[in-house]
Amino acid sequence: MTQTHRIVSGMRPTGPLHLGHYFGVLKNWTMLQEEHECYFFVADWHALTSEYSSPHHIRGFVNELIIDWISSGLDPEKCVFFLQSEVKEHAELNLLLSMITPLGWLERNPTYKEVKQELVSKDLNTFGFLGYPVLMSADILMYQATMVPVGQDQLPHLELCREIGRRFNSLYGKFFPEPLSQLTQAPKTPGLDGRKMSKSYNNAIYLKEDPAQLKTKIMSMLTDTDRRRLKDPGSPEKCNLFPYLTLFDPGAEYKEIREGCLQASRGCVECKKLLVTMAEAFLEPIQKTRRELEKDPDRVRAILDHGTELAQRHAAENMQKIRELVSFG
Ligand code: TRP
Repeated sequence: MTQTHRIVSGMRPTGPLHLGHYFGVLKNWTMLQEEHECYFFVADWHALTSEYSSPHHIRGFVNELIIDWISSGLDPEKCVFFLQSEVKEHAELNLLLSMITPLGWLERNPTYKEVKQELVSKDLNTFGFLGYPVLMSADILMYQATMVPVGQDQLPHLELCREIGRRFNSLYGKFFPEPLSQLTQAPKTPGLDGRKMSKSYNNAIYLKEDPAQLKTKIMSMLTDTDRRRLKDPGSPEKCNLFPYLTLFDPGAEYKEIREGCLQASRGCVECKKLLVTMAEAFLEPIQKTRRELEKDPDRVRAILDHGTELAQRHAAENMQKIRELVSFG
């Protein structure tokens, strides 16, 4: 029998979710919810580390995120959804952990350095941004999580979390387990232009993508840029579109399509039309649930409030024990 884990993971509410989130994160979460105790939360304080100059956008994305989660198959009966900023204990634990976190650990963090270099449009020279992994550690350790599903870029943060937890345990007494990381097996979802799918590259297909817009996006995709005319043989390996077919239907080999492309007997428009059909079929049930939820904002709110209450109770209990260990109880 597999071990049951307590799982904690979060997402920053910075925009609507796209296929990259679905295949990279949500699909994994929906599998985990079947076997483990899951806490999934909206990391709005983490969003504030980079969005502090326009914080009013964050609020609006919170409900959107919950709608995207549920319509992608996450079940609020099986997992706890909560809003980070409503569980104030996270801020208190963040403060306690910040006392024992050496600056060098934070400054050396490769993700910190990379993001700071990439996001030049924002001034990330702040105390809050440097402390991002400390707050993340508080999120995880608060619930004594044993497993954290994350993307590759978050691994250094998780390593820091383990080190901070270890340090706390050795200073004040053992309380925090060492959370394991769980990396999603899925390969990176390519965007419409072949680069990684990302809102900032403007190459994403959103889960709430309007069908007409979906069609336009797919029909104007660049396929194999070396294949100029129908009679030129193409190469599925160089094609931006081909990997999408396997994404939607991982079991299929698409031998005929592959051959047709290589022998120039099949045109790109045919593949595009096929992809439109597949993407529509994939998004249809997701969007159906979304429409239902959009009609019932009170239900969405109630789900989040209920989960937040559960998380609050758990956090309050653990926080009291943590205070006592630090002689502040
Ligand atoms: N940093 C994560 C991200 O950007 C979000 C996050 C915040 C998180 N706190 C967490 C993920 C705790 C896992 C566990 O993707």
